[in-house]
Amino acid sequence: MRRAGQDMKRNVATVIVATGDDSPSVLGFYTLSAASVDLSPLPDATRKKLPRYGRIPAVLLGRLAVAKGMRRTGLGGLLIADAVKRACRGEIAWAVFVVRAKHDDAVAFYRHFGFVPFEGDPLMLWIARKAALSAIGRRITAHQA
Ligand SMILES: CC(C)(COP(=O)(O)OP(=O)(O)OC[C@H]1O[C@@H](n2cnc3c(N)ncnc32)[C@H](O)[C@@H]1OP(=O)(O)O)[C@@H](O)C(=O)NCCC(=O)NCCS
Repeated sequence: MRRAGQDMKRNVATVIVATGDDSPSVLGFYTLSAASVDLSPLPDATRKKLPRYGRIPAVLLGRLAVAKGMRRTGLGGLLIADAVKRACRGEIAWAVFVVRAKHDDAVAFYRHFGFVPFEGDPLMLWIARKAALSAIGRRITAHQA
C-alpha cells in the first residue's frame, strides 16, 4: 500500500482503495496505469483485429491485494471488475487490459477470469477489451444472484 501511494505521488499509477460502508479500514486495493504492449506475442486472431502499430495502448492493473480476512469472499474479482469499468469510463483509448502477477498462485487467480499469460513472460497476463467487459458482466451478475 505504501509503494502504491508512492507510485501515485509520482504520477505513475492511480490507487483505488476499497473500504467497508461503516469503517475506514482498507479491505482491498489496486493500481491502474497507462501502458502499451508489443503485438507480436498476441495470437493471430487477436492481432488481425488490431492495427499493425507494433505496440498498442493498454491499461495495467498492478498491486491488487485483498485484506487477509476478506480473501475468497469475491472481493478480488469485484476489484478486477471495478478496474475494467473505470478504465472503460476514461476517454483515452486502450485495446488490451494487462496484469502483472507476483507469483504462480496469482497467475491461477487471473486465469480464472480469462486472462492469458504472454508467451515468454508467464507472470504478465492479458485480456482483450471486449473479453474483459464480458467477464465483468458475468462476475457482477454472479454476485447479484
Ligand atoms: C489474489 C487475491 C487478490 C485474490 O482475491 P480474493 O478476494 O481472495 O479472490 P476472490 O474471492 O474474488 O476469488 C475469485 C475467484 O477466483 C478464485 N481464486 C481466488 N484465489 C485463487 C487462487 N490463488 N488460485 C486460483 N483461483 C483463485 C476463487 O476461487 C474465486 O472463484 P469463483 O468465482 O469460482 O468462486 C488475494 O488472495 C490476495 O490479496 N492475495 C495476496 C496478494 C496477491 O497475491 N495479489 C495478486 C496480485 S499480484
